[in-house]
Amino acid sequence: MRQLSILPAVVALFLVFASVTNSTPVNRISPAFDLDKLLVSNRKEAAKSTLCTACKIIVSGLKFLIDQQAPEEVLIDYFSKTCKALEIEQDHVCDSLPQKFGKEVFYVVEHGMFTSDEICGALMSDCGDFVNPLEENWTIPIPGGKPPVKPWPTSVQPKSTLRVLHLSDIHIDRQYAVGSEADCGEDTYFNLYELCCRNYPPTKEAKPIKQPAGRWGYAGKCDIPFELFENAMQHISATEKNLDYIIITGDMQAHDPWDYTQEKTVSNIANITATLLHYFPNTPIYQATGNHEGVPQDAFAPHTLPVYDEQGPGWLYDTFATNWGHWLPTTTLPQIHYRGSYSFNPYPGLKLISLNSIYCSRWNFYLYLNQTDPDSTLAWVIDELLASEKAGEKVHIFSHIPGGDPYCLKGWAQNYYEIVNRFENTIAGQFFGHSHNDQFEVYYENSDPNGRPTHFNWITPSITTQEYVQPSYRIYTIDGNYPGSSWTVLDAETYATNVTDANIKGTDPVWTLEYNTRQAFGMPDLSPASWNDLIKRFQTDDALFRKWLVYYNRDYYNIDTAPCDADCKRGFLCGFKSAKSYQGDHFCSGL
Ligand SMILES: *[C@@H]1O[C@H](CO)[C@@H](O)[C@H](O)[C@H]1NC(C)=O
Ligand SMILES: *[C@@H]1O[C@H](CO)[C@@H](O)[C@H](O)[C@H]1NC(C)=O
Ligand SMILES: *[C@@H]1O[C@H](CO)[C@@H](O)[C@H](O)[C@H]1NC(C)=O
Ligand SMILES: *[C@@H]1O[C@H](CO)[C@@H](O)[C@H](O)[C@H]1NC(C)=O
Repeated sequence: MRQLSILPAVVALFLVFASVTNSTPVNRISPAFDLDKLLVSNRKEAAKSTLCTACKIIVSGLKFLIDQQAPEEVLIDYFSKTCKALEIEQDHVCDSLPQKFGKEVFYVVEHGMFTSDEICGALMSDCGDFVNPLEENWTIPIPGGKPPVKPWPTSVQPKSTLRVLHLSDIHIDRQYAVGSEADCGEDTYFNLYELCCRNYPPTKEAKPIKQPAGRWGYAGKCDIPFELFENAMQHISATEKNLDYIIITGDMQAHDPWDYTQEKTVSNIANITATLLHYFPNTPIYQATGNHEGVPQDAFAPHTLPVYDEQGPGWLYDTFATNWGHWLPTTTLPQIHYRGSYSFNPYPGLKLISLNSIYCSRWNFYLYLNQTDPDSTLAWVIDELLASEKAGEKVHIFSHIPGGDPYCLKGWAQNYYEIVNRFENTIAGQFFGHSHNDQFEVYYENSDPNGRPTHFNWITPSITTQEYVQPSYRIYTIDGNYPGSSWTVLDAETYATNVTDANIKGTDPVWTLEYNTRQAFGMPDLSPASWNDLIKRFQTDDALFRKWLVYYNRDYYNIDTAPCDADCKRGFLCGFKSAKSYQGDHFCSGL
């Protein structure tokens, strides 16, 4: 009986936490760049502590009911009613979330031995004493025999180059409603409505619309209308006639996990595939899964759980195989069906690894039962890298969640870091998304933040406008395809549009080159050493750091008024230095 108390409590906590923020601490440190944003984030901090109290009210109420031997429906009902009374979220969200997540959470709670404090503390920071079960340490064996380090090729004279588009975090909102309230976040005491720009069922009294959602989207708490996605594809296909291939690093669905169904996800993915095929009929497209493809969100049970057949992501992996399969050799299909990852060689000498990193998600509650290398995914990555090392190939890894993001569990992140360092000669590029912001992370030899930089993660900004960002995409120039290519990224251009402007002017969005990475930051090359040097230069050159801050959110905030004090700046720099999660104290002590 005791365990039952956790089910609605975890759902409550999920809701509470998801409402506060779905983003990384780096984002949270992200300062208010104008007064409006400042107020919003201050209220968020205040709301966080109040929400902790609210959560405790919910939990203690539930405990009382459990002592009375109340059945589960009563608990869920109590949760929904309290959620509504405290105005934590919109009514239909309060009703639907416990239904959507109940099965997963109940299974995990039933089969794990967690206290409410553990779960609570793990999901919500600064909410009571807890032991964080998400920081579990595990290690997988990494084969020795690392070859002597080859210096990163910094003066490549390419015989030819590839032009590669990177899209991430598309997040189409199929219920986006032009004219609906775009600024709905302040409609409750907690100021936490997660997703605006929709015609929600009215809750209490009707309110006048403060900020009508525009035709092309709204850089706030809104995902994008299909029309904007289509416009982006139209624009890119018209202006980039020579793309060699496209990578997409996940997250197609809107931020409305309370409304997720397998049918909607399948239909959204099919529509995106059809749209991509229409605009890029001759360009191969390689994709990796995001956490929002899960139903419930992030719920990817590994095969080791007996409920895999009923509750596992097999249905989704089958969908991926059908959709991604358009552009892949059939050898990848069994890999996709099994673990939602795959590898293959698009060119002689280059292997692509699409890595399912939802097996590191802290919101993948199934991992609470066993975090150790779900479905042997990292062991598989090691095998792939070892084979490529032996064959003298180079490898690109693309994936959704980068290891430095606290959304990624500690055990996975530290194993992944060791793998990258072991295979630094073989890995030529790593491409991630998930945060929606424009970021990067550097790896160091022996995890020594003052040691030799060994590698780095590209973290590409989102197509969606959620949250307070403008739509963006990136194009890499890559050394290849000829015998002896280094397959490293030689140059990168980030493009963005200003949907606010297009809405006001009544025109189509204008997509422009936001910046060229090497030019903007005066980088001689895109080696790990140059990225590390950039962090050092950010430390001393405030103007250069501020230049990057604007790109972080794609020009949404006015740089001249952006307050980012020393602590705020340190938070950002710390993010750049930490390619593995939950080790900021170690990596950032010298900052
Ligand atoms: C994991 O290891 C770190 C340091 O090695 C330690 O501080 C932490 O308590 C460990 N976590 C668990 C859950 O064992
Ligand atoms: C995708 O969905 C949009 C919006 O519902 C629709 O207009 C479009 O025709 C669909 N595209 C394809 C290729 O099915
Ligand atoms: C956890 O999963 C790993 C990898 O599948 C497996 O080797 C291990 O035995 C599992 N541990 C437990 C306690 O079930
Ligand atoms: C985006 O457009 C709006 C409306 O025209 C304008 O106020 C804002 O300054 C623009 N942002 C940038 C970075 O140009």
